[in-house]
Amino acid sequence: MNSSPDFSAFDPSCRLCHRRRFLWQAMAGSAAFFTTKGAFAEALTLTPRQTEGPFYPDHLPLDTDNDLILINDAITPATGEITHLHGIVRDVKGNPVPNAVVEIWQVDSHAKYIHSRDGGLDGPERDTNFQGFGRFMTNRKGEYYFRTIKPIAYPGRTPHIHMAVYHGTGRVLTTQCYVKGEAQNERDGVLKRSIGNSPEALALLVADFKPLPNSTTGELVAQHDLVVGLTPEDPEERRPGPPPGGGGGSGGGEGRRPGGPPPRPSN
Ligand SMILES: [Fe+2]
Repeated sequence: MNSSPDFSAFDPSCRLCHRRRFLWQAMAGSAAFFTTKGAFAEALTLTPRQTEGPFYPDHLPLDTDNDLILINDAITPATGEITHLHGIVRDVKGNPVPNAVVEIWQVDSHAKYIHSRDGGLDGPERDTNFQGFGRFMTNRKGEYYFRTIKPIAYPGRTPHIHMAVYHGTGRVLTTQCYVKGEAQNERDGVLKRSIGNSPEALALLVADFKPLPNSTTGELVAQHDLVVGLTPEDPEERRPGPPPGGGGGSGGGEGRRPGGPPPRPSN
């Protein structure tokens, strides 16, 4: 069995391709791509919660699909290291969670979020080709998939991708995905305040960003599985404690999300 996923369908210059269909087919057709970790005789550990941060989009982009590299029918892709981020959402018994909505949001290659308070929505500092936010509903195997960029650092934060999972009536997990082996993880205040120096907890929050086999353009692949409870979380839990030294913005501590209703888990 060929365990190397074929992402040749992701040629961003292919205007005749129906990207969303390809994105889904590429994932669904690569069963071996998803690591099967066997039966779960014991309860799994919940993915540690992480602060939502202050930059959950205050205006959702026009396109919220799972391809963050291309916005709608644009032909110019975002800049950055293209990464195929995927994983399985499970409950603590190890059962896959279908029909869960996974959201991600992250800075672009200029270290800007899709947020009016972070360089403006169309500001010159932004990579306007990067979608910055995406949603995906897990399939019957609990699998999700995004095409995005490898996260980069910004002042005060180690590289990370924000993630949220919705199931049933509300959000069941708010967390962040970090880069395995990233030296700045050791100094990241948000990470340290939430998990201390626990290597076990860190292992649940990092993904290995590896070269995509057979990629001729340096694309990466990262698997990040999530374990969620199925009870909606308390919104207060998403909010961080005070940043160290009183620093604000997106630095040593990520502040609370601006007000507003939760997004609808639909595309
Ligand atoms: Fe952040």
